[in-house]
Amino acid sequence: MNKADTLTSTVVIAIDGPAASGKSTVARALAARLGYRFLNSGDLYRAITWNCLSQDVDCRDTGAVASAVGNSHVEIGCNGTDYYPIVDGADSRAHLREQVVNANVSPVSAVPAVRYILSAAIRAHAQSRQTVVEGRDIGSAVFPETPYKFYIDAPVQVRQRRRRNQGQTEEIAQRDLIDSTRSTDPLTIAPGATVIDSSTLDVAGVVNAMLEKLREQGLVGGIGIPPMMSESHRQDADTV
Ligand code: DC
Repeated sequence: MNKADTLTSTVVIAIDGPAASGKSTVARALAARLGYRFLNSGDLYRAITWNCLSQDVDCRDTGAVASAVGNSHVEIGCNGTDYYPIVDGADSRAHLREQVVNANVSPVSAVPAVRYILSAAIRAHAQSRQTVVEGRDIGSAVFPETPYKFYIDAPVQVRQRRRRNQGQTEEIAQRDLIDSTRSTDPLTIAPGATVIDSSTLDVAGVVNAMLEKLREQGLVGGIGIPPMMSESHRQDADTV
């Protein structure tokens, strides 16, 4: 850790929400606006799932998953402003959105040992830094102490349509069910989180709503924030 790191206090903006709610896109955009790091925690769960699949571990077998993950080494790599998972030395970014990962990531992420290991890695990554972290349990379980919490939502039909438009066949309702009913750190709206419905807003609209809240909370002011996103960066709500 260098001197600059030790002088920076930890600031975490937690952004949670269900699959295809648009949270990754808006979290990345918010981080860019504020000059914060961005971490997509779902990618860590996906990378662990890919790692299990690569070792022929049965992802429905809780004990086998816990043992495989307990023996693996998780790091967070950096390429410019991009932070990504490295598991046992492998960069699996090219595989994280494959159908086989989509189909197995929810059961793998329901295993308490997986959550314990990844939550610790996420906390260590954010220590002494300013980071926007998105996921399912960031405001409720990983950083419950942060005052900066958002929950991005949209009706299931809208989210299913978004995935179809992205060429993916992922079963959103099924994923919602597993993510929100697992016993450890289920998807939930953290106490104090600001809920934003992304079905009627574009990316800039959601980011501006978050900035307004952060200004209200005194985290950001009018000074020092890069100019508002131009019209050319606006996207259709369905492309979030
Ligand atoms: O955000 P995503 O769709 O890429 O997340 C993939 C899976 O990872 C999701 O089904 C639930 C899990 N996940 C989690 O349990 N906790 C997190 N903080 C992030 C993701």
